[in-house]
Amino acid sequence: MGLETVELFAGVGGFRLGLERAGHEIIWSNQWEPSIQAQHASDCYAVNFGEENHTNVDINEVDETDVPDHDLLVGGFPCQDYSVAQTGAQGIEGEKGVLWWEIERIVREKRPPLLLLENVNRLLRSPTEQRGRDFGVVLHCLHNLGYNVEWRMINAADYGYATKRRRVFIFAARRDTEWGAWLDAEAAKPQYFSQKGFFPREFPVKDRQQRFPMPQEPDTSLLGDPKETSDSFEFHFKHAGAMVAGDIWTEEVDPDTVDGKTLGDVLERDGVSEEYFLNEEDIDRWEYIKGAKEEERVTDEGYEYTFKEGAIPFPDKLDEPSRTLLTSEGTTGVGRVKHVVEDPKTGDFRILTPKEAERLMDFPDDWTDTGMPETWRYTCMGNALVVGLVEQMGRWLNQQPDAVETDDELVFGTADN
Ligand SMILES: C[S@@+](CC[C@H](N)C(=O)[O-])C[C@H]1O[C@@H](n2cnc3c(N)ncnc32)[C@H](O)[C@@H]1O
Repeated sequence: MGLETVELFAGVGGFRLGLERAGHEIIWSNQWEPSIQAQHASDCYAVNFGEENHTNVDINEVDETDVPDHDLLVGGFPCQDYSVAQTGAQGIEGEKGVLWWEIERIVREKRPPLLLLENVNRLLRSPTEQRGRDFGVVLHCLHNLGYNVEWRMINAADYGYATKRRRVFIFAARRDTEWGAWLDAEAAKPQYFSQKGFFPREFPVKDRQQRFPMPQEPDTSLLGDPKETSDSFEFHFKHAGAMVAGDIWTEEVDPDTVDGKTLGDVLERDGVSEEYFLNEEDIDRWEYIKGAKEEERVTDEGYEYTFKEGAIPFPDKLDEPSRTLLTSEGTTGVGRVKHVVEDPKTGDFRILTPKEAERLMDFPDDWTDTGMPETWRYTCMGNALVVGLVEQMGRWLNQQPDAVETDDELVFGTADN
């Protein structure tokens, strides 16, 4: 049986698509776009999945007691400043508008057994002046709420997807669950981040032998309370790691990559509409803006400086996974980070079509063709996650974590349902 799941910051439903493919059920969802009045992502979600139990209100306005009980809470939340203003009788207080605190509030009320969250990579090292503080605060909150945590930075392209997209996934298990107990018992032992953990099962890493023996002493620990962690905690979080009872172990892992899809594989082959092709007269400007530069420039205040940037392939390479899709794609106006491809039919240069953007993110064709303006279709894909990654994670969420270790191999338990 699948897990009953609540999806926050749902966008157009990347988590839901992946989790449903893995047999789970979304019983409540929330999506609200603060930047404009129209609610394109939420409308798209409702068209594709139905309106039942989908809410389109600012998460700040949601009463946590209205969220139904659930087994799993998922969401991709923004990387913001998570510093703690105070702790005390009133509990932890963060900055207003910082969405992490909305997740914290709902988890505090509902205590779901499992959480699966997604964020940009930068979360692990921000802010610049106190590296690792923000993730330290997230871990501290989860620790106080009774969870153990495992995280992993995953680049979708390493595991066969058509786009390079590096995101940190955070898996948290309440300590009284099987996964919580598994983390308690195993996270500090050899091979956790290469074999026994939640992530390496689906996202294998090359070096099966991490630090050996694994130091029993943690690499660091959270400080006395979230406010202290917020004020003074600094740490270099590596791309894999775990927090168990306030202690933190972290490892660099080397993904055992597979060759998979490329940008060329997602292109429409039978010709696309004229509107996607670059204007001939803009080509010089495209070449300039994508090219390497070393230029003397002057700031508004009159300071001279040398501006340098590297080249971006123009057109984009078709025989490898695409560069990361951002929210700025979607028009033929000159733009450095936009993708430009050689059209397979005509050989002329053009931007990606919305359908191609959806394919890069592993969504079904025309998923966002639900009445929103076309530029929003790209925006939604630039915000989305790679669906298949979540499907892969979903396979392990309701399985027994126990593994039987032999001399040189591990046999994992099977589904208990
Ligand atoms: C990183 S995106 C998540 C995308 C999603 N995982 C998907 O696959 O489409 C974050 C989403 O949070 C939404 N959001 C931002 N502020 C919000 C708020 N205050 N309440 C509810 N949703 C919000 C944004 O509109 C955006 O769709």
